[in-house]
Amino acid sequence: MLNSQVLVKVPASTANLGPGFDTLGMALSLYAWIQMEAVDGETVIELYGDGLNGIPTNKSNLIYKVAQMVFEEAGVHIPEIRIAMYSDIPLTRGLGSSASAIVGALVAANALAGGPLSEDKLFQMASALEGHPDNVGASLFGGIVVSAWDGIRAEKVRIVPHENLEVLVAIPSFQLSTEKARHALPAKLDMKDAVYNVASSSLLVAAFASGNLELIPFAMRDKLHQPYRAPLVPGMSEILEQATNHGALGVALSGAGPTLLTLVDRGSDRKAELESFLLRTLEQHGIEAQTMWLAPALNGPELSVVHGDRSESFMERIKGEVKA
Ligand code: HSE
Repeated sequence: MLNSQVLVKVPASTANLGPGFDTLGMALSLYAWIQMEAVDGETVIELYGDGLNGIPTNKSNLIYKVAQMVFEEAGVHIPEIRIAMYSDIPLTRGLGSSASAIVGALVAANALAGGPLSEDKLFQMASALEGHPDNVGASLFGGIVVSAWDGIRAEKVRIVPHENLEVLVAIPSFQLSTEKARHALPAKLDMKDAVYNVASSSLLVAAFASGNLELIPFAMRDKLHQPYRAPLVPGMSEILEQATNHGALGVALSGAGPTLLTLVDRGSDRKAELESFLLRTLEQHGIEAQTMWLAPALNGPELSVVHGDRSESFMERIKGEVKA
């Protein structure tokens, strides 16, 4: 049976976690909301808040396009839809905003169509759309997600994050496109750097899976992408080298950047020191930034199907939860 209106709340994510390039992801307690319904008239796309400025509101909109892919796959015909979206996830900063939009659109459209596609099918579609499964896997399943995609099929294992893990991000005010950050990467790697990353990433996954937080500072190190991306984020090298001396358990570029992410032990008494170190270092390099304390998000999208009274506005419905 087709549903008439659905609302999805979907978490942001951080990809790579240092060495696990295109492989590791963690969902974060920062969210986007997408509401979708079928309409008789023309498609309408409403974007709320300042964070979504510049996103198209016609049928070239990513959420609209992804929704139509779901309908086609499901064999249902819903050409005209109303989409409302609000997001607390800053765009083009390495916090998985596009992955959240893809996952939110997949889950909302599938629910609108009555839920014909499995979660695995949505994961396959999301991985193919993004070209890597790390952000979409985390947004879709929640927690820490270890995934591999061979260009045809994605597989994953979800790990429940240790309850003491907290996350501090420093979000620079400038945007950095994933395309530009991927362009900075070399075509070839030294064997010893490849081995270094296999070792670090494997150890990091084992540390997360066994709850062995003491291994994080040793394991969360990378020679595959961060050194090449460092020139794109002034202050990044210093932060990667020194954050663990200022109370971080581990530090990484979040996804393709420019956000820098630190993992922190919830009980640490050095949180203020770490926060001011991050801000001061970026400022010394002329970079304005904002910090945010987040937690790993344990769950993927939260879906609600709105039956009956639809007079309550989208922003009314989510207002208790948004940051703004
Ligand atoms: N793994 C990806 C990258 C995440 O680092 O380029 C950004 O989409």
